[in-house]
Amino acid sequence: MYVCLCNAVSDKTIREIVRRYQPKSIQQLRQLVPVGKQCGKCICAVREIMEEELKNPPLYKEIA
Ligand code: FES
Repeated sequence: MYVCLCNAVSDKTIREIVRRYQPKSIQQLRQLVPVGKQCGKCICAVREIMEEELKNPPLYKEIA
């Protein structure tokens, strides 16, 4: 499902980025994926998805 319609970014993309790079803030996440850079309506949903993913860290570390 698209979370950021302006930039066509899905929740799946956000979850993958958060799992892989573990950003500490929305600002860090926005450096990795273009969310909230236009109308900004998606920021609340993006923050919820990010916090949800950070609560459930991966059980393993990716090597590659
Ligand atoms: Fe994300 Fe507009 S919906 S910037």
